[in-house]
Amino acid sequence: MKSFLFLTLLAAAGLQSFCQQLNIIPQPVSVKLNSGTFTITNKTVFVVNDAEAGKSADFFNAYLENIYGFKLAKGSAQPGNYIKLVTKKNIEKPSSDAYNLVVAPMGVTISGDTYSGIFYGIQTLIQLLPVTKNVSLKIPAVSIADSPRFIYRGMMLDVGRHFFPVSVVKKYIDYIALHKMNYFHWHLTDDQGWRIKIKKYPLLTEVGSTRNGTIIGHFPGTGNDHIKHSGFYTQEEIREVVKYAADRFITVVPEIEMPGHAEAALTSYPWLGCPGTGPYKVEETWGVFNNVFCAGKDSTFQFLQNVLDEVLQLFPGPYIHVGGDECPKNNWKLCPLCQARIKAEELKDEHGLQSYFIQRMEKYINSKGRKMIGWDEILEGGLAPNATVMSWRGEQGGIDAAKQNHDVIMTPGGWVYFDHAQVQKDDSLTIGGYLPVEKVYGYEPIPKELNTEQAKHVLGGQANLWTEYISDPSKIEYMIFPRMSALSEVLWSPKKQRSWILFEPRLKQQFKRYDLWKSSYSKATLTNTLTRKKIKGKK
Ligand code: ACM
Ligand code: ZN
Repeated sequence: MKSFLFLTLLAAAGLQSFCQQLNIIPQPVSVKLNSGTFTITNKTVFVVNDAEAGKSADFFNAYLENIYGFKLAKGSAQPGNYIKLVTKKNIEKPSSDAYNLVVAPMGVTISGDTYSGIFYGIQTLIQLLPVTKNVSLKIPAVSIADSPRFIYRGMMLDVGRHFFPVSVVKKYIDYIALHKMNYFHWHLTDDQGWRIKIKKYPLLTEVGSTRNGTIIGHFPGTGNDHIKHSGFYTQEEIREVVKYAADRFITVVPEIEMPGHAEAALTSYPWLGCPGTGPYKVEETWGVFNNVFCAGKDSTFQFLQNVLDEVLQLFPGPYIHVGGDECPKNNWKLCPLCQARIKAEELKDEHGLQSYFIQRMEKYINSKGRKMIGWDEILEGGLAPNATVMSWRGEQGGIDAAKQNHDVIMTPGGWVYFDHAQVQKDDSLTIGGYLPVEKVYGYEPIPKELNTEQAKHVLGGQANLWTEYISDPSKIEYMIFPRMSALSEVLWSPKKQRSWILFEPRLKQQFKRYDLWKSSYSKATLTNTLTRKKIKGKK
């Protein structure tokens, strides 16, 4: 047993020094270090066959220019000084996102099953670059074969609680790209703000995108700052963001919250609420509010379908997220129209009404050729037939949905809610909870309760960044880094390769990349490591 442990440690140490040399996050499936190096300079030529592969070259060039101050021309192969991008159909383990990256003294070749594969190869190439600025960038000769474990690798940003301009959203999308993640979930509406222009209903943004103040400090707050908080995206801006993401092989999932978290919409159009409720206001504090869409009126559904008609035009991706979480039933219980609906549709109770609401919206979304996602509350009262479930209140919702043969995206609060603190005692104002990077790294998206067939319904996972306590873009970075880097490895790398001992040294190099990017990040893990070492030393 002892010798087994010794050999394991020896193997880990060997692997560790190897990984330290390369420091790629997420760790690729297979890495072979060869002898020699290749040097990228402003004379290196990008060999690109078509415009789609050109997107990857453009991303690399933008990165080079931004960080190192030079970029490469596109042209035909120059012996000894090229980076060649090719699509290839015969990679051994076929996956739409697979790629091979070969760095040889003569040049670099990235071959992908598809264009997205090439793009991920480019992200790995970026991670081979030195973390010190230079005009000549020496990289090691390697052969890398790689493909992702999960097909859904997401990050959510809540712009309802605090609005962030397009430039900040684009930066967030760049971070997603740099981590080989591929979904950006954009939480666009909430009680505290409606952030997407809908041409048919102009008051949604004229009224619903502004609140008159925000509580000061942690809920319930020590007062109200009485400062207007406002902002929304025009449809041109939305299109710009969707294209920006698509150029990085990232799909945007828009979320329009219903039936709850709707008070900004109700403030804009009070007829959307149950009769006798209100007056409404764009909320200035955090939490769950009783004023929700009235489920008894057909006009509510007509309104939401009209809103979705514009949303569908703006977002070409397969998924539309309808929220579905935290919908109190107080108003529905007292509303004659909601009660009449329960009776007419022979529903069991208000949970049945929530299920009716979501199923009716799903039918509409499906009729337009798209798929619906909802938070795990959409299980209550019966799941809509084709719904994908985002499991956030732990994993049980995801387990139940997968057992019912529904697709699932894992976003459990205890592991991937990046609004939680990174140190035991909050070092800034956060919603609470303690989620160190080590815990994120240890997250396993496939619950052990699922058998092999059921596990196939787990498409992947996502971190959620709720922004009640985040108003400054640099705090977005502080909250996602380094936890997002850990999550990227959970979602990309083979399970058997995951090891905190091997990840930690690579993370230290990643900190240097954050510095290169001029990004803010939490250094809590360094403190945690020191504390661990101290504790160990005492024993
Ligand atoms: C959620 O955190 N309310 C989905
Ligand atoms: Zn009602």
